[in-house]
Amino acid sequence: MEISPFVLGLPKVELHVHIEGTLEPELKFELAQRNGIKLPFDTPEQVRASYKFDDLTSFLDAYYDGMSVLQTAEDFYALAMAYFRKVAPQNLRYAEIFFDPQAHTSRGVPFNTVITGLRRAQIEAEQQLGITSALIMCFLRDFQPEYAMATLLESLPYRRWILGVGLDSDENGNPPSKFASVFARAKAEGYLLTMHCDVDIPGSIEHIATVIKEIGVARIDHGTNIVEDPELVRLIAERGIGLTSCPISNTWVSDGSKVALIKQLAGEGVKVTVNSDDPAYFGGYIAENYQRVADEGDVSNEFLTQLARNAVDISWAPAVLKAQLR
Ligand code: ADE
Ligand code: ZN
Repeated sequence: MEISPFVLGLPKVELHVHIEGTLEPELKFELAQRNGIKLPFDTPEQVRASYKFDDLTSFLDAYYDGMSVLQTAEDFYALAMAYFRKVAPQNLRYAEIFFDPQAHTSRGVPFNTVITGLRRAQIEAEQQLGITSALIMCFLRDFQPEYAMATLLESLPYRRWILGVGLDSDENGNPPSKFASVFARAKAEGYLLTMHCDVDIPGSIEHIATVIKEIGVARIDHGTNIVEDPELVRLIAERGIGLTSCPISNTWVSDGSKVALIKQLAGEGVKVTVNSDDPAYFGGYIAENYQRVADEGDVSNEFLTQLARNAVDISWAPAVLKAQLR
């Protein structure tokens, strides 16, 4: 995809990227070799060719399989540094980055290993690349809420390194209400709240209503199905609850890019934003996602600037940093 000079130069904020979803096949091979792991493929090209997702479940299978190569703090550092180096030339200024601790602790990798590796990369990226970042810890909704609660408690010694909590993984049969008490406790501990409401999932609109009215999230990840209920659209526009939409991801795991809905929701006063989700799997980082909106939506540069501004507005950056990002 060709990125226009305008899109490339636009100062950007990323609010929806899973760090494990930035693991490119080349790094996967490097880490596998370092850790003595045999991959079921011979080349990075073969790995890439195997990425043929037609729904969330088929993507998640590849996503979790890929993580086996992440073993040491050095691996998590390498993962995050590769991401920062990739997006620095795209003029990414600030990122709030999801990580999935349970995807690692469930296979014996300690929480401390994950977070210390990521943290070291964040510090280095800020010093060397000028990208400021923060971490959002996601709970896996296909595990039990007791495991999420244990993870929340395990995170507390690292509280100052984690800005908020989210909920991801397979939404089918795992509604937000399952995690209401975990999120209530996270809020009491001072974490900010967001949750995935994936696109075109059965029950999506009920899930969206729950996260707004019962869980009390500050943002919704994806969530563009909200257009099905104009009353909810009015409510989030009024409250400034933003959506983190991911156009290229949506083409793989849902029914299309949702660029038309991004335009519609922005027109209705919703703080909708453009993000990359799992760029190594879906083939597009932040700039490619803006370009997708530009190409498919036939929108003005002012509109793209407004989307970038929305991301600053709904970010959880401190006020001083927000002022710089604007
Ligand atoms: N984990 C990583 N990417 C995800 C997505 N798009 N939806 C749900 N869980 C995820
Ligand atoms: Zn996501």
